[in-house]
Amino acid sequence: MTDSTAPVVDVDALAAAVTKQGGVVKMLKKDGAKAEVLEPEVAKLLALRAEFDAARKAADGNKTDKPFNRAAFDDLVKRKMFVVSAFEIHGGVGGLFDLGPASCALKANILDVWRQHFILEENMLEMECTCLTPEVVLKTSGHVEKFTDLMVKDESTGDCHRADKLLEDFIDSFLESNPTLSREEQDEYRRVQRQADAYTPEELHKLFQKYGIVSPTTGNALTFPFAFNLMFKTSIGPEGVAAGYLRPETAQGLFVNFRRLLEYNSGRMPFAAAQIGLGFRNEISPRAGLLRVREFCMAEIEHFVNPQDKKHPKFASLAGQSLVLFPNDEQLGSGKTRVMTIGEAVREGIVNNETLGFFMAKTWRFMEKIGMDAARLRFRQHLKTEMAHYAADCWDLEIKSSYGWVECVGHADRACYDLMVHSKKSKVPLIASYTLPEPREEEVWVMKADKAVIGKTFKQEQKKVMAALEALTEEGGERVEAVLAELEGPEGAAEVEGCRVTRGMVTWSKVKRMVQEVKYMPSVIEPSFGIGRVLYSLLEHSFYQRKTDENRCVMAFLPRVAPIKVGVYPLLNKPEFAPFTESIVGKLTDAGISNRADATGVSVGRRYSRADEIGCPFGVTVDYETLAAQDVTVRERDSTAQIRVPIERLVPLLKGLVDGSKTWEKDAMGSFPVVRTGEEEEEGGEEGGGER
Ligand code: ATP
Ligand code: GLY
Repeated sequence: MTDSTAPVVDVDALAAAVTKQGGVVKMLKKDGAKAEVLEPEVAKLLALRAEFDAARKAADGNKTDKPFNRAAFDDLVKRKMFVVSAFEIHGGVGGLFDLGPASCALKANILDVWRQHFILEENMLEMECTCLTPEVVLKTSGHVEKFTDLMVKDESTGDCHRADKLLEDFIDSFLESNPTLSREEQDEYRRVQRQADAYTPEELHKLFQKYGIVSPTTGNALTFPFAFNLMFKTSIGPEGVAAGYLRPETAQGLFVNFRRLLEYNSGRMPFAAAQIGLGFRNEISPRAGLLRVREFCMAEIEHFVNPQDKKHPKFASLAGQSLVLFPNDEQLGSGKTRVMTIGEAVREGIVNNETLGFFMAKTWRFMEKIGMDAARLRFRQHLKTEMAHYAADCWDLEIKSSYGWVECVGHADRACYDLMVHSKKSKVPLIASYTLPEPREEEVWVMKADKAVIGKTFKQEQKKVMAALEALTEEGGERVEAVLAELEGPEGAAEVEGCRVTRGMVTWSKVKRMVQEVKYMPSVIEPSFGIGRVLYSLLEHSFYQRKTDENRCVMAFLPRVAPIKVGVYPLLNKPEFAPFTESIVGKLTDAGISNRADATGVSVGRRYSRADEIGCPFGVTVDYETLAAQDVTVRERDSTAQIRVPIERLVPLLKGLVDGSKTWEKDAMGSFPVVRTGEEEEEGGEEGGGER
């Protein structure tokens, strides 16, 4: 047994120091500091960077240098049941997948962090709305008409393909097989590729013709692109007459509950509602594991805010967060991303407003919290042609995996579109208000209806017409103006609720009034997470093969999200070890630390390897010394280093390591005797490994 002499290096602290020093240098440069002031600070930055690189290399010391091995990764994902085809024994169904035990726990832990990071920290109102949605809701939201992707069919076989993806794939393989194209030509192809999902059917057709794109599977000609609605249609009730859909997003449930949510929040604005639940989309070409599936978990936030004031009270706390941004002009221009703090991005007008920026920074931090590799994250702004007409600004958090950059979280400022359409259709005012410190004089629209004439003309329908007229004033100027214009036009009549309202029945006038309450329809800022995509990306970012033996694969999950935190291993399956194993398992369980005892008769090394494959960060081994000295070996997954810990100090140590209040380097290696530094080769992969 040797005492620890290993230096304590905290890679995260070094990363933070590099960022901080980077900020100092930037400020000095901006302020035009003199060389004698600037140079020492630059030197300090370079030294910190070198230290950080060395520390990161050392931390990655056990990982193979080879590129990501898709075959080994896919094999592990299947073998350990992270993701399996749904209904596999019946042949499976494209785009439907089941999650096994390890990814169920991983997903639950990711969602726990999400709840803590968003719902609890930001005081959001959580809801669970139904998946089955009546047609009126999705007609109103525009999904029945517009939730489509462009599809082309193989003219001979009828096979379906998503048109924009065919174009993207065509450009990828074209560029790969034509490496001698000039830089300008390549850039032009990439520009076309980046706009793939923003083209109209006509534009796409022209590009297909220009490039000679045919079916990638048969080589046959393809049809003209046409819109295909992605929603699963069904009917609600036994009569089969009430059309419904499985929701394509969770958001609508929150919009239609706005009035009650505002009331629950005592009328206070701004506020956010959130929902975690399933979304369903009949994707044309499901592929790439969990990245494009037909049923997936979403976590969505609808932050309701006054459109005149999109400042965020907590923006300053995140303003210094650096993000990698890919603004739309760069996508169509240089093709390069920019690194800047969200504070700068909002100040320079690159990101539309503080609230949108606040959520972008918060999402970035969430990704870091769950262990996503920040070097493979970027925010891509929607192109103007890609953005819905009502949206003020949209940024997708994209994560890079072996499938390229994939949108995993949309961030959209949807203005007041959603509340407006639901309010108009339902005649329920979805508005908020605030009180001015002093009343002020304002011109407001007032409606006077001639109830006698309306009653006589519309009889049973008079109530409906009156309610509709009143709702118009609630909606404010725009709609009132439209009806007014019709009343004043040559016809002198307007259509309200299917009834012909004529000039004599109603008058609108602007009058001066003292008002203290200002009503408005809130804007919505929406971060929308695809949890399946986040989970899949995390699997890829966490996967590595050991340098010493590439058959030994590891999922390097951070302890806080790892499916199982601690493996407990009696050296041998002998009765004298059992009481220790049981007692440790009991103590860990009581402390809320998920654990699993593995007393199978294979070597401890092999059991470590098995646990590495599902990303278990710590192992506790009970051996002969335990019987005498009441202590155990604790092994850390990535370094494979081992320390010796008295049983009575085990749970506090592991609890701290799992919740992040303790670090392995300082609180484990630095405080307990080290029995293995992790630099020597560890025995016992799936292939090798005798009894230890
Ligand atoms: P894409 O362009 O990739 O189809 P989208 O723009 O339609 O995505 P959104 O409508 O913004 O995606 O959906 C919000 C989030 O839901 C996305 O960021 C993504 O993480 C997730 N998502 C969307 N479609 C799928 C799918 N078919 N499978 C898994 N996740 C999905
Ligand atoms: N709710 C955002 C989306 O699914 O598009």
